[in-house]
Amino acid sequence: MIKVGIVGVGTVGTSVVQILRDNADVISARAGVDIVVKSGVVRNLNKDRGLDIILTDDVDEVVNDSEIDVVVELMGGVDEAFEVVKKALKNKKAVVTANKALLAYYRYELQEMAGTQAFEYEASVAGGIPIINALRDGLSANHIESIMGIMNGTCNYMMTKMTNEGVSYDAILKEAQDLGYAEADPSFDVGGYDAAHKLLILASIAYGIDAKPEDILIEGIENVSSDDIEFAKEFGYAIKLLGIAKKDANEVELRVHACLISQDEMIAKIDGVMNGISVVGDKVGETLYYGAGAGGDATASAVVANIIDIARSGKSAPMLGFDKPLEGSKLTLKSTDNINSKYYLRVNVSDRAGVLAKITKVFEDNNISVETMLQRPSFENSANLLISTHIAIEKDIQNMIKELELLDFVNSKPVMIRIV
Ligand code: NAP
Ligand code: HSE
Repeated sequence: MIKVGIVGVGTVGTSVVQILRDNADVISARAGVDIVVKSGVVRNLNKDRGLDIILTDDVDEVVNDSEIDVVVELMGGVDEAFEVVKKALKNKKAVVTANKALLAYYRYELQEMAGTQAFEYEASVAGGIPIINALRDGLSANHIESIMGIMNGTCNYMMTKMTNEGVSYDAILKEAQDLGYAEADPSFDVGGYDAAHKLLILASIAYGIDAKPEDILIEGIENVSSDDIEFAKEFGYAIKLLGIAKKDANEVELRVHACLISQDEMIAKIDGVMNGISVVGDKVGETLYYGAGAGGDATASAVVANIIDIARSGKSAPMLGFDKPLEGSKLTLKSTDNINSKYYLRVNVSDRAGVLAKITKVFEDNNISVETMLQRPSFENSANLLISTHIAIEKDIQNMIKELELLDFVNSKPVMIRIV
């Protein structure tokens, strides 16, 4: 029998306990042993969770329990979770976590500490989709050319409802929180940080890149407005928050931001809490992974799969997929300034003679070629200019936005969305 201790019995932890109970027959048959939850840690012992496991508010009671074989960390946060996992590893427990924020900062230290001890984290990226398994094992014969996709269920749920039903940003964020999709601090979701944490984990497995969130371009969906959504619909685009990793010679570009993506693309059709990730390998070509990206049961499905793997073998493959460093073709992070893209801009201007000519002059001065331009009346005596560009370089666009902002007839900082 394998005994499990769960640190954090909230949305995901509760589902882990329930799946291990509800599906005990198939789990035991696949693992070859029974897997039972012995105890769990919570902050608030007075809350009724309807579970028949021992609960404590003392982490040490679980991580120091000699009967526990596997510690499952589902408390969230970074530093406190790091201490918990460190203690568990030190006590020779196998560890499973769904904590992408922890891994975004400490994955290499944890790999070092774990050594050959089992340390699994399938649920940390894209909830129930086995993307870590696919990338680390199924595609291990390939150089990975790109990874691109929807990696945050909350944002995708919100953008879908805002686009299809016109639901307000605040109302739909509250709904995503009530459904258990959002992080404890939802600014991690809407600010793009959660997707960035996941992208960094995937980039380590694909490219051996040790980047931190501070090193990469991260933007969220907070500035996307109904004007942008209308523009997108009119020109055949969907707006999605995407994580993008792309290899270009010896550099890798890593970025998370809202994107305008053609409605014909498969990823544009992925709606609601679903995640979808495309991985292109040099030998296999494009592969696509789709499924629920958040929510208790979907996420716990991946956590339990990791526990079953541990019960079967007792140890992991190299945690981040590389047994030794990638010599010879070491990849480095591409500077954000050098990203190439097409861009969409929304510029709110005072509606008066000569404005358009001055705006297009700023475009020309920065080497940026306009593809389409629309003018829509906004509040009194002002208008929104909705502009898309041909391919341009990020640093030119950023410079142009700064110059536009300084013009006396530009009413607010222009909003920019990259077009994929
Ligand atoms: P949650 O519902 O907020 O649950 C967190 C649990 O941890 C709660 O039971 C909480 O106790 C407990 N906890 C937090 N800090 C603690 C502390 N210092 N000492 C003892 N217990 C503590 O969070 P969740 O949604 O289940 O997410 C858990 C982890 O999974 C996070 O890392 C998250 O990023 C990740 N994840 C979540 C999802 C999802 O869809 N929800 C998907 C993928 C990954 P109380 O209940 O008493 O407050
Ligand atoms: N808050 C995350 C999301 C949970 O919405 O995708 C899954 O990692």
